Amino acid sequence: MNKSITYRLEKNKVFIKSNDRELLIEFINDKIFRVYEELERKTNSFAIENLETKDVELSIEINIDSLIIKSKILSIKVYDNLMLDIYHFDKLLCEDYKGKRNPFKRHAISTYETDEEKEKAKALSLAEGHESNDDDVNHHKIEVLKVNNQNNIYYALGEKTGFLNKQGYEYEMWNTDEPSAHLEYFKTLYKSVPFYISFNNVASYGIFFDNTYKTYFDMGKENSEYIYFGSDNGNLDYYFIYGPSLKDVVSNYISLTGKTPLPKRKMLGIHQSRWSYGTKERVDEIINGYIDNDLPLDVIHLDIDYMDNYKVFTYDKSRFDLKNNIEEWKNKGIEVVTIIDPGTKVEKGYFMYEDGIKNNYFATRNNEVYVNSVWPGKSVFPDFSKEITRNWWGKSQKIMTDFGVSGIWNDMNEPASFEGPLPDDVEFDKDGQKANHLEIHNVYGHLMAKATFEGLKEATNERPYVLTRAAYAGSQKYTSFWTGDNQSLWIHLQMAIPMLCNMSLSGFSFIGTDIGGFGGDVTKELLIRWAQVGVFFPLCRNHSAMMTRDQEPFSFDKETISIYRKALKIRESLIPYYYDLFYHGEQNNTPVMLPLVYYYQDDENTYNLNDQFMIGDSIMVAPVLEQGKTKRMVYLPKGTWYNINNHKTYTGNQYIVEDAPLDTCPIYVKDSSIIPTYDNINHINEQNNIVFNIFPGNSSYEHIYDDGKSYDYRNNILTSYNIKTTQINDNLLIDVDVTNNYKTYENVIYRIYNTKGNIFVDDKLIDTNNKSNYLEIKLDGLSHKLEIK
Ligand code: GLC
Repeated sequence: MNKSITYRLEKNKVFIKSNDRELLIEFINDKIFRVYEELERKTNSFAIENLETKDVELSIEINIDSLIIKSKILSIKVYDNLMLDIYHFDKLLCEDYKGKRNPFKRHAISTYETDEEKEKAKALSLAEGHESNDDDVNHHKIEVLKVNNQNNIYYALGEKTGFLNKQGYEYEMWNTDEPSAHLEYFKTLYKSVPFYISFNNVASYGIFFDNTYKTYFDMGKENSEYIYFGSDNGNLDYYFIYGPSLKDVVSNYISLTGKTPLPKRKMLGIHQSRWSYGTKERVDEIINGYIDNDLPLDVIHLDIDYMDNYKVFTYDKSRFDLKNNIEEWKNKGIEVVTIIDPGTKVEKGYFMYEDGIKNNYFATRNNEVYVNSVWPGKSVFPDFSKEITRNWWGKSQKIMTDFGVSGIWNDMNEPASFEGPLPDDVEFDKDGQKANHLEIHNVYGHLMAKATFEGLKEATNERPYVLTRAAYAGSQKYTSFWTGDNQSLWIHLQMAIPMLCNMSLSGFSFIGTDIGGFGGDVTKELLIRWAQVGVFFPLCRNHSAMMTRDQEPFSFDKETISIYRKALKIRESLIPYYYDLFYHGEQNNTPVMLPLVYYYQDDENTYNLNDQFMIGDSIMVAPVLEQGKTKRMVYLPKGTWYNINNHKTYTGNQYIVEDAPLDTCPIYVKDSSIIPTYDNINHINEQNNIVFNIFPGNSSYEHIYDDGKSYDYRNNILTSYNIKTTQINDNLLIDVDVTNNYKTYENVIYRIYNTKGNIFVDDKLIDTNNKSNYLEIKLDGLSHKLEIK
């Protein structure tokens, strides 16, 4: 053993010293360990709260060239230069790259290689406006290089443009307000999740680099031999998160950074927004547009123009009488979400400004409150890094909830600013620890969402609804997310699917994009195609920018309204399914919208499927994402798939060409599925009836019935419908076991697909309603045994 390396073992922690460096490897549990350098620094994480560490038995072996730390599942070989290789028994999972960074060549003019020639070439390409990179290695203070296997697939990394697989691309984590059309080569957008998954179907793992400063992720772009992540600031502080399955990696990552709590049921419904519905009359027109056209609607968003001069926590009394207006809209079944940005108007006498100044709640620079400009003009920025500011901001939410507002939309919280970015030396308190903008930037939105969440919870004692644009790893504990200012472009519709799927794999479950696109004028066809897929996004909201053409379905022709209606009705009917997915997702760390690879990781055909996705493990959506297309190729993984449009069934493990005229989005249900739906409703409110759609096979399903908004479900005040189906030859047994701690439905309709025969309920033959595509029977909401023979 090389004498320069020494170690000390303290329970789950191994302190390793070599030369002048000290590294800490700390096991969180059998599958997760943390690698940490610069131990003297404070170790608080913004992403991880209430970390539960399980005792892990460690043994240490000493070799000639290394030290080997062994847990039951993982072993880590640490070399004297503190590089490490990670194994599962003998299988090498993750290997530090031992060479130096060595970027691919960028030949200027292949025959000339002198510096002078290079400079000339660079100047020439710049002259026409082309970006020009150098070969030079841009070194970072922290840099971790890992060997890249080119067959590996990299997923996650939060909200990034491009396709699912990030192999060969580079990214940065620096929350950015990006108004121009988001393109495949963009390195940053609004959110920072410094977490990637290295996937293969044998042993996948994730790396979470918990560093809030600007971080860099090169996934084999600079040189395909290695990938690297790094930063110019903060600590080397990363978690190795083992799977081995993709599911396990995601679940283990969520166990570390937090779960998405079950939302209020209403918020899973249909949201309509625009920048801005600026008067009560305009909101009435929108709501009536929906109601008169038999279009389901649950939530209206009020964008910045509801405010008095963009002053947060105020509203313009000449245009709204907010409390009464909201009450009137609620009576029609529609709730309201209002936008609240961080930028607080500098104005004498304005209570938020005065309060904040008096109590030092705002970020400072050179000991003075820092001022930049946002919508209200000169504005100051709450310092969310300190608890007292978060409490103050949190308490202010009550102003809105007292008006009857049901949720808060946090925007511009990168933070965005109109007079250039916040300088690096803007100061934040960080509860006395002091931090600059470089450190807080990426968690600014995260902390704002946290303050909002906690304030709403205290004000209402209900499950808060928060929507945010900027975020950091772990923000899923407080908020839903939308992907910022996309545009009405087909490529943005296409991009939405891999972007959202990777956000899910990064732990963000309640997600969506602006349906129809935010910037630009949407065409009828694009809006229809976007709505058909958007109604499946966990967050379903149509939103568009000021000065773009009206984007509500009824701003288009009759055909649009009718197709849009069909899409919205599908969403509204599926609310109980989404609700169950969120409920179970909170229990077992499963996001809602997922790429097919998550459920079919042994099937290579799913690894790069960028245009299909799953909602739960039962529904697969294969939308049309190109103008003028009326057919598309669909990949069906193993199993039997039921097309809900034409009622055909297909055997899986094959590609098919599916008809998809403008009014049709191909949607499939897998065999052995149970899907709860509501029949034909236009607003989510307490429902006394439910439909269980049963697709034969062996399966079990738990449906939850509760008040849909309080925290009672955590005390088990809910009724649970446990349904078990067993297929024996042509006979199907359906066992329904109800545990009633809330109340039971009045009626339950059982709709059984792909099955013929007589229905026996509790051993008695029953006359049934034989529809062409299914058998249907209506019973009370109690436990039953059904048999189809
Ligand atoms: C930002 C948001 C957008 C919002 C607008 C006005 O651009 O991303 O959704 O409508 O600000 O508040």
